[in-house]
Amino acid sequence: MATERTFSIIKPDATERNLTGKINAVFEDAGLRIVGQRRIRMTRAQAEQFYGEHKERPFFGELVEFMTSAPVVIQVLEGENAILKHREVMGATNPANAAEGTIRKLFAKSVGENSVHGSDGPEAAMREIALFFKDEEIVG
Ligand code: RTP
Ligand code: MG
Repeated sequence: MATERTFSIIKPDATERNLTGKINAVFEDAGLRIVGQRRIRMTRAQAEQFYGEHKERPFFGELVEFMTSAPVVIQVLEGENAILKHREVMGATNPANAAEGTIRKLFAKSVGENSVHGSDGPEAAMREIALFFKDEEIVG
């Protein structure tokens, strides 16, 4: 199996509660290496572009408000089968449905304020990484 890279966001509800380190520990324990990381305040334009696929959904406005409400930590994670492994450790979108031990089960506040984002496939991973990182900021 090939080494992959995926894009991760530690969302505002998690940075506000000082959960960055605990979430990073879950990633590292799962064999995901943090090869790029930056703390930013997402602009409205960045959030609208990033979640563009959801712009017709009823929660879009709320999602953009949330993602711009406090700092986020954006990351590139690397490892064997990283995209799927990352989604597994994040757990289901709605914490009520997330498996025991997953980040969303442990930390998420609600289906909207759910602590983390992870790319959902190889094309999304490439696109999302390129939106936020220059090549030289990723050191594998
Ligand atoms: P993500 O993209 O953030 O990794 O999450 P996901 O694939 O598990 O979920 P997705 O369906 O792509 O939804 C993106 C984000 O929108 C918010 N959301 N709110 N209020 C709601 O019903 C609702 N549904 C989704 C969440 O922050 C979700 O992660
Ligand atoms: Mg998604």
